[in-house]
Amino acid sequence: MSAAKKEYKRITIKSLLEMKANNEKIAMLTSYDYTMAKIVDQSGIDIILVGDSASNVMAGHETTLPITLDQMIYHASSVVRAIEHCLVVVDLPFGTYQGNSRLALESSIRIMKEAGAHAVKLEGGSQVGESVSRILSAGIPVMGHLGLTPQSIYKFGTYTVRAKKDDEAKKLKEDALLLEQLGCFAIVLEKVPAKLAEEVAKSLKIPIIGIGAGSGVDGQVLVTHDMLGMTVEFQPRFLRRYANIYDEMSTAFKQYITDVKSVDFPNKKEQY
Ligand code: KIV
Repeated sequence: MSAAKKEYKRITIKSLLEMKANNEKIAMLTSYDYTMAKIVDQSGIDIILVGDSASNVMAGHETTLPITLDQMIYHASSVVRAIEHCLVVVDLPFGTYQGNSRLALESSIRIMKEAGAHAVKLEGGSQVGESVSRILSAGIPVMGHLGLTPQSIYKFGTYTVRAKKDDEAKKLKEDALLLEQLGCFAIVLEKVPAKLAEEVAKSLKIPIIGIGAGSGVDGQVLVTHDMLGMTVEFQPRFLRRYANIYDEMSTAFKQYITDVKSVDFPNKKEQY
């Protein structure tokens, strides 16, 4: 059973920990630009993630690997200019933190300083422990990301459910505990069995935000363009579509083209 929803003027790391303690689920969505972020923020979202999924959704790349730090900073600063309420977390892109904790800190400082973000997110467990510690030592909040980690797609070869085998589940639990002990304020768990995700959420004090990880976690995240039904070809089982914006936009564009070609638009009232 969930407790009464407390109204937060601004969402902070402290509010998120309080939400977990009070059994209030955390709602997180992605945004990559000012206009979308403004609508998402004013709708009352708790966290906006400027995800490296921008590489797919905004730039049309097949994977998240090509997006650069400069491009992430551009997206993140556009989002930050729009928000008044939520916490803004920005993905560290591939190649800006793995295997080099000094680079991880430098990349995170750029995101905080140039974009005005509130926290960074990175993928992986023990292998990025040193980077996590170094970023945290500068007072920069870090969100972890375990389970399906799209930046490692070429290591695994598929986007299938992760940690189905006992040894993988054990490693995931160890990594989650390590991230909490290092000082991460939350962890995204992507595409893992619901039972495992619930176990992790129950065993940790920090919020676990799921995507394809069932309802037993402390919050949910979706890619906004997917949940709005703009990316019609992407249809994983975990995705609930809250609108059919692809069709709505397509209908509007077709009508506009018809109106221009038939000189119905602009009419007398729409000119000077
Ligand atoms: O980049 C992203 O959008 C993400 C979410 C899928 C969690 O990491």
